[in-house]
Amino acid sequence: MNLGHGRELDAGEGVIGLSKAEYPPLPDSIVSDPLAGRLDPRRWFREPGRRFEIEIGCGKGTFMLNVAEQNPETNFLGIEWEGAYYAYTADRVRRAALTNVRMLHADAVEFLKWRCPDAIVDVIHLYYSDPWPKAKHHKNRVLQDRFLEQALRCLVPGGELRIVTDHDDYWAWMEKYFAKWSDKVTERRSDGGKKPFERCAFAVPEWVGEGQVVATNYEKKMCGDVKTPHSTVLRKPAAG
Ligand SMILES: C[S@@+](CC[C@H](N)C(=O)[O-])C[C@H]1O[C@@H](n2cnc3c(N)ncnc32)[C@H](O)[C@@H]1O
Repeated sequence: MNLGHGRELDAGEGVIGLSKAEYPPLPDSIVSDPLAGRLDPRRWFREPGRRFEIEIGCGKGTFMLNVAEQNPETNFLGIEWEGAYYAYTADRVRRAALTNVRMLHADAVEFLKWRCPDAIVDVIHLYYSDPWPKAKHHKNRVLQDRFLEQALRCLVPGGELRIVTDHDDYWAWMEKYFAKWSDKVTERRSDGGKKPFERCAFAVPEWVGEGQVVATNYEKKMCGDVKTPHSTVLRKPAAG
């Protein structure tokens, strides 16, 4: 994939792209101590005390650039496992001189599980996640129990997992997990029990143009005027 069209992409390692020193391999002790790889990603930013949000699967990075420009007081970590897209987005962030974005070339599900401490993330953005349409590949879908368990653990109380997809079959799959993991905020459970998340409506960001939901590259290319994507928010209940 030659996304630079002949121009060499510069991920700005150590400034935008995470360097090996900042993101070392998992230690051998992980075998006996599952928490040994945990680190605090907020320290990767100039101002670590700010709100902290993660985008999983940035693709070509348009959402990341927009959301970071619109929210300069929030720190954003973009996680992208495809090397070419990681470099493309990091290069765009570097050229835009955004100081509130860092990019990680990794599997976001593994990052949450092995690296991310409890209750530090304000929002996790998951937009147009790969649908893996063949049944034998469904196990690769990001949204499933193991991901929701980690997302819940990593979010602050009141934190949100925001999801958008245009894929009807993946959405039907997600709905089964939403039913298992969340109560709609209007629901009153007769058994008094509570599911881990509250489910609420997705609010389109103010800066997004007419007829769009999150204005990612994929959305602009694939949805157009023809299709209204599915969207929702799973909120971790506020403490108390
Ligand atoms: C269909 S694309 C959508 C990209 C972007 N969100 C958009 O809407 O334009 C899905 C992206 O997620 C990335 N991805 C899929 N699974 C991932 C994972 N577990 N961790 C990090 N990135 C992932 C893929 O490499 C791809 O760039």
